[in-house]
Amino acid sequence: MYRVCLFVMVFVCESVCMYSSKAMEGYPAGYLADCPGTTTPQPIPLSDLKYLTISLQTKGNILWPKPKYNYYQMKELAKDPHIDFKKKTVMYVGGFLDHPQLPFALTAGAVYKRMGYNVFLLDTNRFTTVAYPVAASNMRTIGKHVAEMLATLNKYGLNPQNLELVGLSLGAHTISFIAKNYRLQTGMNISRLTGLDPSGPCFRNLGPEDRLDQTDADFVDVVETNIDGYGMAAPVGHVNFYVNGGEFQPGDFFWVPCEVICSHIRSFTIWIAALMNPNSFIAMKCDSVQEARNKDCYDKNPVVTNLLGPNTDRNVQGIFYLATQNNFPYFLGLKGLERDYEFFDSKLNLYKKTSWLFF
Ligand SMILES: *[C@@H]1O[C@H](CO)[C@@H](O)[C@H](O)[C@H]1NC(C)=O
Repeated sequence: MYRVCLFVMVFVCESVCMYSSKAMEGYPAGYLADCPGTTTPQPIPLSDLKYLTISLQTKGNILWPKPKYNYYQMKELAKDPHIDFKKKTVMYVGGFLDHPQLPFALTAGAVYKRMGYNVFLLDTNRFTTVAYPVAASNMRTIGKHVAEMLATLNKYGLNPQNLELVGLSLGAHTISFIAKNYRLQTGMNISRLTGLDPSGPCFRNLGPEDRLDQTDADFVDVVETNIDGYGMAAPVGHVNFYVNGGEFQPGDFFWVPCEVICSHIRSFTIWIAALMNPNSFIAMKCDSVQEARNKDCYDKNPVVTNLLGPNTDRNVQGIFYLATQNNFPYFLGLKGLERDYEFFDSKLNLYKKTSWLFF
């Protein structure tokens, strides 16, 4: 009788209480994974191009007035006294609904100006303040027109080898469309594209022609902070940083989760912190995205590292895991390479008595 019972229990458990597996659970399709029709560029009337503008950061101060030049005024922009094309130039491109007068562009503008760059803040607001899939489609046409603006500036001295584009979320794909079109129009590459949690909705299942990709420029780096939410998981750059594994970021108080929007936007605040602390975000190389997700890239032999921020080594490419703190300025320096400092494990390990202090 006992044996029969055991047999029945084992049998029932075999079929009912299986350990969870991907074969059983399936894989997430992701929020708005496919958006039919968005790969066809939206026509934008030429008369609307007066709303496509570049604002210039003139001082390293967020509130200083910013002269603004539209699509038709690139010759005037090149003559602006704040422009010196012997210096490096950066163009910041925001995401869905973003605007140069919102905190993202204001902060990025001030920080890059203090670093000595010519700073362009691109205003795509008119074309992103629509339903998200329409905005995604619009960015393809906008990319072509912004490439025309940059190609005109090339005639007035803007060297693409001194040009970097930084895009947040949808903006990470906008910079891709700019760079793809710039190469078609001029035969030249833009030096660097930095994608800050490139948006996944409407993009995550598309091919390299239709989203940010490492073939877009001489060098493409990507900061991944919410890969299954508003971001995308694929390592599309030459160097791809999966911050704390890339899925979710630690909240300001560690037991309060930093959910989708909070984690998505962390890619931006981390980038700003990295501009201000260029040698402090030390990431370690992983063999796969799965390994990065599992925080399983510690103790490799040899340990291969790269820096997130302006000093990334372009020749050390691949997938990197970056451990951070939960508060600005986030970096852990060399401690980030030690498993003991991994944020959640170091706080939540109940075997360590000190952990109880946090509850
Ligand atoms: C432009 O960048 C791509 C991708 O990084 C690269 O394959 C290509 O050789 C570059 N072209 C030139 C002219 O440097």
